[in-house]
Amino acid sequence: MLFRTWEAHAREWPDVATVADHVGVEHLVVTRHALVRQVLADQETFRPDNALDAVTPIPVGALRILTQHGFRLPPTLANNGHPSHPAIRGIVAEALHPRRVEEQRAWLTAVVRGRVGQLTADLDGRPIDVYGELTADLPLLVLARLVALPDAEAAVVKEFTRAALELFWAPVALDRQLALAEIVGRFHAVLREFAKSGPGLAADLRAHAESLDMVVGALFFLLVAGQETTSQFLTLLLHRLTGEPAVLDGLLTGAVAVDDVVEEGLRLVPPIVTWRRVAARDTVLGGTPVARGTSVLLWLARAGRDGSVVPNPDEFRPGQRGSRRHLAFGAGAHRCVGAQLSRMEASVVVAETAPLLRGVEVVRPPWCPDNLSFRMPDAFVVQKG
Ligand code: HEM
Repeated sequence: MLFRTWEAHAREWPDVATVADHVGVEHLVVTRHALVRQVLADQETFRPDNALDAVTPIPVGALRILTQHGFRLPPTLANNGHPSHPAIRGIVAEALHPRRVEEQRAWLTAVVRGRVGQLTADLDGRPIDVYGELTADLPLLVLARLVALPDAEAAVVKEFTRAALELFWAPVALDRQLALAEIVGRFHAVLREFAKSGPGLAADLRAHAESLDMVVGALFFLLVAGQETTSQFLTLLLHRLTGEPAVLDGLLTGAVAVDDVVEEGLRLVPPIVTWRRVAARDTVLGGTPVARGTSVLLWLARAGRDGSVVPNPDEFRPGQRGSRRHLAFGAGAHRCVGAQLSRMEASVVVAETAPLLRGVEVVRPPWCPDNLSFRMPDAFVVQKG
């Protein structure tokens, strides 16, 4: 169950439970909204240091490949509980300022409208892949307008970011680890070169970070977090909406607000299902003793379905009480700095795509591989209904 936590919605889960993973590491799984929030808010007791630790230990052979490419991942953003965190976060937050995000809305709307128009015409003659032809690269295109990035094909960046999510968060066999290490290491080397002299955010980070490794680490995480997550969310949300005709009708008549649909989507189909913290000292959580060093697995997706927060936890009801209290973006000192950006992107895509979704039937729902934290949906194929 540990690697497919989006499937396990059974009500009988306790508030906290110890579960061992495939290599025997025990994680304290936290399910209740209030307890997940408590952990996220208390950075002294529950540190973020393990956020990017590889779930499957990386063997010497793969480490060697990574090292040959100069790969290092020092604490920078999500895994940084040190005093250097607020300044790095501040620089990234400035690049993603809500004003700058809002300035992209008109451009994105035009791009999505163009794509949806073409796909609507294509639907007359063939099935379409909503992921491959609409949602896969959109967030990367927007991110590249906000932040100067290395000059690389979208397909290369996507291959790298998906490889990183698999290498660090999936139960993965040795051969695959070697192949993933090569992909991740190769692009990491590109990021390192860019970090040395790149403009914009890279330059701002260089001026403040303690080392080049930290600049590379921040760019690495931003590139993964800043587009892969939103791309996954768009795919999951559009898929969910094909099964919610009343919501689609409401969107088309204006009876349902787009922003409410996005929030209910974040609550019900978050792309990041769990997130980790590590106990910095012996403590007690929800009556359960927690030993120092315990990996605490926060079940963000389940916290969104907590019946004490929302009256209809498993139903897609935009605007229902508690709908916005999901923890899809985490909380506290490390709360997602890209929340506004992903919300803007999702609202544009939902508004522009609703008419198309209303007239289709699903040929192939997106498939999600085993992963501790990320959904990583693939092709989502629909045809004219
Ligand atoms: C639907 C899309 C997204 C989801 C669900 C999501 C979720 C998350 C979560 C759960 C965290 C960890 C929060 C915590 O530890 O409390 C996080 C952190 C972060 N996210 Fe996102 N994210 C999304 C999109 C984005 C985007 C678009 C960007 C940037 C362009 C971004 C940048 C970051 C960064 C930089 C952090 C680390 C913040 C810190 O440690 O201070 N995310 N995100």
